[in-house]
Amino acid sequence: MTASSPDKNKPFLSDIKTLRARAREHIEQGNVTGTYVGDAQKTIDILQAVLATELVCVLRYTMHAVAATGISSEGVKAEFAEHAKDEQGHAMEVAERINQLGGTPNFDPEGLASRSASQYGQAGNLVDMIRENLIAERIAVDHYRELIRYFGDDDPTTRVMLEGILAKEEEHTNDMHDLLVAHEGKPMLPK
Ligand SMILES: [Fe+2]
Ligand SMILES: [Fe+2]
Repeated sequence: MTASSPDKNKPFLSDIKTLRARAREHIEQGNVTGTYVGDAQKTIDILQAVLATELVCVLRYTMHAVAATGISSEGVKAEFAEHAKDEQGHAMEVAERINQLGGTPNFDPEGLASRSASQYGQAGNLVDMIRENLIAERIAVDHYRELIRYFGDDDPTTRVMLEGILAKEEEHTNDMHDLLVAHEGKPMLPK
């Protein structure tokens, strides 16, 4: 490629006047300008499911943090409580992004479980609680990996947010796996 011939692979840079005019034109749409490559409504719909998944995780971990009993449950309870806080943070990030895209985050408890990719669970003892959380984390990890590939370069902001959340869910998965090994002596699921 010579200096004189334009590089077709290089993204076209809008001049500042065009950018300002476009921003004014779409001002009523908030942060979403005409340059949004993805389908904003579809992104909002996807993120509503992510929000529901995170909220169900908040509820499950919170319930486990309170209800876990038995020998050596104290450390596990603290871990559950910490995860509940992390999931709450994720829910907030996702809700903010839905809002930026022009949607209203759906916090409606009605239908929450069916909008969520992970389940609330019904564990009756410590080991089952750990196992349920491990399963939920693995579902979240799989789901978010897929979404990160889906958003790609069409919506880098959403993708980067999900990458941050994914890194935390991988940590959570590891924590639950280690707890399961500590409390049961063997992992019930391959790592
Ligand atoms: Fe999360
Ligand atoms: Fe998590």
